[in-house]
Amino acid sequence: MEKRKIESIIEVYSYEELTEADKLLVDMSIESTNRSYSPYSHFCVGAAVLLDDGTMIHGCNQENAAYGVTMCAERSALFTAGASFPDKKVVSISIAAKDEHGQLLEEPVTPCGSCRQALIEAETRYGHKISILLYGTKHIYKIDGIGQLMPLSFSTYS
Ligand code: THU
Repeated sequence: MEKRKIESIIEVYSYEELTEADKLLVDMSIESTNRSYSPYSHFCVGAAVLLDDGTMIHGCNQENAAYGVTMCAERSALFTAGASFPDKKVVSISIAAKDEHGQLLEEPVTPCGSCRQALIEAETRYGHKISILLYGTKHIYKIDGIGQLMPLSFSTYS
């Protein structure tokens, strides 16, 4: 028997340290939290996706009285990109969230398992890694590809 250790690399930034392009995307994901439809959880998640032609797309969680029907912010942005701009590639995504008091989370919000799987599919579809920005008021994580958040994932992409 052997043991294998799997490591993830996550860059940690302050807002001021981000590039101007990343600041724009982060700002848009924060703004997207205000568009959230979350009458059940009162947890407002915003996302913003950058396409390879510079187009930026909003996403936010869309809840439902039948809870399982709820759509997360990340997938709402990714699927909007796929539906509206099928010939453009997703380059990066930023995610932010506000709690039930309307306060932005201090620590970075992290995508659920389904959204991670959707990001793997997006990387497969577009043929490259997607840069992921996870916003918190104290720290921002910048991640070079969903593989860092989901090792040993099911995918045809390597
Ligand atoms: N949510 C997201 O929008 N993205 C995630 O990655 C995790 C959870 C939403 C779903 C639901 O509306 C609320 O957050 C509470 O779970």
